[in-house]
Amino acid sequence: MLTLEKILQSQGFGSRKGCRALINGGYVTVGGQPVTDSSQPFDTTAFEFAVNGEAWLYREKLYLALNKPGDIECSRKPSHHPSVLTLFPGQFMERDLQPVGRLDHDTTGLLLLSDDGAFIHAQSSPKRHVPKLYRATTARPVTAALVAALKSGVQLIDEDEPLKALSCTALDEFRLELILEQGKYHQVKRMLAAAGNHCAALERVAIGRLRLDDLALPPGGWTYLDEAKLTLLAPG
Ligand code: URA
Repeated sequence: MLTLEKILQSQGFGSRKGCRALINGGYVTVGGQPVTDSSQPFDTTAFEFAVNGEAWLYREKLYLALNKPGDIECSRKPSHHPSVLTLFPGQFMERDLQPVGRLDHDTTGLLLLSDDGAFIHAQSSPKRHVPKLYRATTARPVTAALVAALKSGVQLIDEDEPLKALSCTALDEFRLELILEQGKYHQVKRMLAAAGNHCAALERVAIGRLRLDDLALPPGGWTYLDEAKLTLLAPG
């Protein structure tokens, strides 16, 4: 049980004082009825409430998937393009929502976000071998030699060992799919360059067994991930 004031605060509706003012002002309803006592306790399990007529479900933590559009940065403090966080309700920023890892500003596709520090840490750990599937469009034709090089490993400057794709498949003359387990800086682009081609466009289409197609999100669209979807992110 949590007081309504604490519930609102935990969900990103501002300071304790601000939440109290919202409640006292009659802006918060539960089951369609205004609740003006900010200290009234509620069971948070499947707890629904509305603020200014907008319905919300209490969520202890946020686990989200975004179909990241191009020209948007993963950083909270972006330099040249808007931050991905601008695509979400302001309450999520207040809750310290963060991308899990990063995609380049021009890379599109599946990006996870959460305000659960332990989840972000576990997902981003280099020890966690969750395969990530990318679809790349190349500037020059995809050859059998390119696919073979990406599979056998290419040496990047600044890396001790050659990096290889777990698998790589040509889709057509200028497109290929590859699966990576690591998440090094600009890894796909650098691997393609090291193998003598150039990445013209890049999309992440799956993380583990969670596929962007199955989420049916338009570019810029996002969804909450339930338990079943989160289990698809498990390694192996
Ligand atoms: N590899 C890249 O080069 N860029 C990304 O955004 C992700 C993987």
